[in-house]
Amino acid sequence: MDKKKVLVVGSGGREHALVWKLSKSPMVREVVAAPGNPGMGKLARLAPVAADDLDGIVLLACREKPDLVVIGPEAPLVGGLVDLLRSEGILALGPVRAAARLEGSKSFAKEIMREFGIPTAPFAVFDDFKEAERYVREAKRPLVVKADGLCAGKGVFVTQGIDEALAALHILMRERKFGNAGSRVVIEERLVGREISYHVLSDGRRFLPIGVAQDHKRLEDGDRGPNTGGMGAYSPVPFVHQELEEKITKEIVEPLLHGMRLKGIPYTGVLFVGIMVVGDQPYVLEFNVRFGDPEAQVLMRRWRDDVYPFFEKAAGGDLGEMRLELDASSAVAVVLASEGYPDAPRTGQKIDGIEEAEQEAGVCVFHAGTRRREDGSFESAGGRVLTVTGMGMDLEAAIECAYRGVSRIRFEGMRYRKDIGAQGRCVGFGLH
Ligand code: AMP
Ligand code: GLY
Repeated sequence: MDKKKVLVVGSGGREHALVWKLSKSPMVREVVAAPGNPGMGKLARLAPVAADDLDGIVLLACREKPDLVVIGPEAPLVGGLVDLLRSEGILALGPVRAAARLEGSKSFAKEIMREFGIPTAPFAVFDDFKEAERYVREAKRPLVVKADGLCAGKGVFVTQGIDEALAALHILMRERKFGNAGSRVVIEERLVGREISYHVLSDGRRFLPIGVAQDHKRLEDGDRGPNTGGMGAYSPVPFVHQELEEKITKEIVEPLLHGMRLKGIPYTGVLFVGIMVVGDQPYVLEFNVRFGDPEAQVLMRRWRDDVYPFFEKAAGGDLGEMRLELDASSAVAVVLASEGYPDAPRTGQKIDGIEEAEQEAGVCVFHAGTRRREDGSFESAGGRVLTVTGMGMDLEAAIECAYRGVSRIRFEGMRYRKDIGAQGRCVGFGLH
């Protein structure tokens, strides 16, 4: 068998986890990462091309001739990287540009959900400030105001009252803080429930559930403080039992994939559905056209089989009869962030203890915002610096394992949540 070469696009903890898992594949001979991060150095060859430099990535791919390109972040997918690679005859995992609008345009996603009867919060779409303002003033319930386009996770305002909702509209539509991404807004009803990240791998027709995780978006323990890219995750999520999962597949994933096919834009790649479970009813908060970060870090650790054939077959449009078994044990990921994150992270701090952490049984550390110093050690270079993951027979053991890893690592100003996974402790027994 000819061994395969894979190009992974991106540079965060998610991409490090993908590189880590792909490099374990007996089918894979080499992993190249663009631009990657120095933590991947032992597993992948790094190519200095930014993930959102689409032309640069295509040139790199034409030169490297990988058997498969795996794209981590949303921006290149929404920008049409898969289309560009396909037109060069290069296989890539991810949706084409037209399908990536599920994440690239919240109004597009909401219209699809309306059309195909997928449960989601009631909503309205506005291009005009005055009309949006009137809607907010007349609303009877708490609202969430969302920029239509990509804003690196910062374009969603979960508001408490009319004033906050109006302020959000102002930021998006008048101040244009996110440029054109906020010239159109989606305003929807605020849902209260338990949030989960549901991931599937789709070949356009068939799909495989690839695990449920719970992210921790707020900076501080107890879900307080500002929203972040994600401070930690765990998988499986005990309250996601079989019945709920069936609802998610029957009421959300199947109609969505069917609807996309009907529209002539079959969805291939990883689909991450952000779901609010209200009572026992799942509602879609958002679609993401890629793995979550830090969700990928826990899902990759629980993925028992060789990941390569799954990715290759999904990208090729035929998962065939593939079946996936996730590890029954639990995984927990704790993000170590810089002081000042998310607003103004202070970087350049020397990091100690990564190797010691990795010597702890079950611990695996993924890099995100790190760079190498001249003496070979690492320093912080971003907001989210490292993700420390741990595995265990159950959630409790995985929490203990991950925090044992965390306890070995130090850098000036390091901050992390102490309660990752705690919400999963409270409830009964689940499957995924
Ligand atoms: P989104 O990018 O659309 O998922 O929004 C980011 C975050 O805002 C989600 O992860 C939720 O925590 C929150 N959120 C979004 N929509 C709603 C909603 N309708 N009700 C309550 N919270 C929401
Ligand atoms: N962890 C949430 C995201 O990747 O969007």
